[in-house]
Amino acid sequence: IISSGGIYPKGQSIININPFELANQQPKDNGAPDLSQKGISYNGSAFQRIASEIQGNIVKSHGRDHSSHILFRFNPQKQEDAKAFISEFAVTKLTSAWKQKQDSDKITTEKKLATQENRNPKLEALQTMFISLLLSAEGYQYLNLDLAGFEQDFRSGMKNANLSSTQMFDRPAQSWETTYQNEIHGMILVAWGAEDRTKLDIETDNITARLRKNNLASVLGIEKGDGQKNANGDHVEHFGYVDGISQPKFFNEELSELKEQGVDTLRWNPLMPLDLVLTRDPLSENLFSYGSYFVFRKLQQHTQAFREAVIKLAGELFTNPTSDDMDWAGAMIVGRFKNGVPLTLSNSNKEIDGIAVRNETVGKINDFDYSRDADGSRCPLHAHVRKTNPRTAGNEQEKRHMMARRGISYKQQTGRQTEVGLLFMSFQSSIFQQFQHQQEVFANDHTQGKDPVIGQGDFENSNQRYAPVYGNKASLVSAKPFHGFVTLKGGEYFFAPSMQFLRSI
Ligand code: HEM
Repeated sequence: IISSGGIYPKGQSIININPFELANQQPKDNGAPDLSQKGISYNGSAFQRIASEIQGNIVKSHGRDHSSHILFRFNPQKQEDAKAFISEFAVTKLTSAWKQKQDSDKITTEKKLATQENRNPKLEALQTMFISLLLSAEGYQYLNLDLAGFEQDFRSGMKNANLSSTQMFDRPAQSWETTYQNEIHGMILVAWGAEDRTKLDIETDNITARLRKNNLASVLGIEKGDGQKNANGDHVEHFGYVDGISQPKFFNEELSELKEQGVDTLRWNPLMPLDLVLTRDPLSENLFSYGSYFVFRKLQQHTQAFREAVIKLAGELFTNPTSDDMDWAGAMIVGRFKNGVPLTLSNSNKEIDGIAVRNETVGKINDFDYSRDADGSRCPLHAHVRKTNPRTAGNEQEKRHMMARRGISYKQQTGRQTEVGLLFMSFQSSIFQQFQHQQEVFANDHTQGKDPVIGQGDFENSNQRYAPVYGNKASLVSAKPFHGFVTLKGGEYFFAPSMQFLRSI
């Protein structure tokens, strides 16, 4: 031990060290972070040890506003070529969490420098393409790999979700878009941050050409995601509400950033352990190789019908509703106003407790729970954000159902028809515990009213209740069931394998 060196803490002489103490000081597990611990450092050495071996976009969003999602199926008898393609792709194209960090660090540095030097930041040259590769259970099977180490719900795939869980109520796969009725082996996600998609579309074409070369794979479909922002610069989904506010945070630095932005964490602390999203890659021999389960769902949004239904609801709840009342009715569906103000904090999108909300920070308000609103007389119990995250104070177990949401909006033109919606994406260490739990147990539960945005199944007995007098339990009333504005067009369960697995497949 003594001659091996290097394991002694810096500045301590060998002679003063008690061997038992030394054993305790040796970094556990090769210095890799303990994934069940909260609050590790993004810049620290423990995370560095695993970051180059996990794919990007899992522990932090890639943050780019445009994406392509290439869904493919390898062709019969091409297993060996497929493996060669995957390992080459991993080495030459994929963005690890480490690369993602380095790329974004460069941009942060340039932005800081530009502010100091009072000039516009030169970001053009610093832009990088983000690329990841996800495999489905059918993809692993095609490659003759053993699925035993993967969780059951992943193995049966999204098409069979209704079989493994009795309360999912997904539309049957026969009614999905044809792309998704196919056996999908994998998805390549390509993302780019500049204003337009030109470079992204070129890269997408290159990758699809590579997949099709020598008949390696069939490209089943390509989805295009384009983020959209409101006047405040916050991301909004197609119903018009700020999205992506509430996310689990995995790093101390992210919490400090929130503090700097004036966001407290007294009632809701978003800091969560990495094992919420990372799990050992069952097919990697390296013990420190992690992957993540990835849910992809194409959710069409019926925006016009949604808007009309909100106006109708306002008519049911209020006499001669004003436009403020209509905003309020919408917030009773989502749980937040369009600009992000949580309904449980205020029934106005302009102020909270008599204090005007500031435009720059309103889309970040996340320090709240429902402890003063148990009966749902402020924020209805069925509201989307309340259903999907009940925020029960002190309930750490409940937080295990959270996931890293990575969705992006889409808009597609088919003939003269325009379809819009959300390419819902999430990373988690268990589809059963996280995505499916949120959909099945939280959103589809009817006893407290089904989630009017994403709830599935029969809404007739769904007990959605609204209080038209804010905070007044006695005013709680039922209204016509609110549902049917989001349609599942297809999707699949994937796994984001570790870099080690992909390289050496
Ligand atoms: C939050 C919209 C699908 C889970 C939100 C928010 C909006 C929204 C506007 C508030 C922003 C925020 O707090 O981050 C939508 C729309 C959907 C959709 C329009 C479909 C088209 C889903 C699905 C799930 C989900 C399928 C999971 C099964 C969540 C969660 C939150 C959230 C966990 C954060 C709640 C919190 O922590 O307070 N969504 N969503 N959403 N959504 Fe969705």
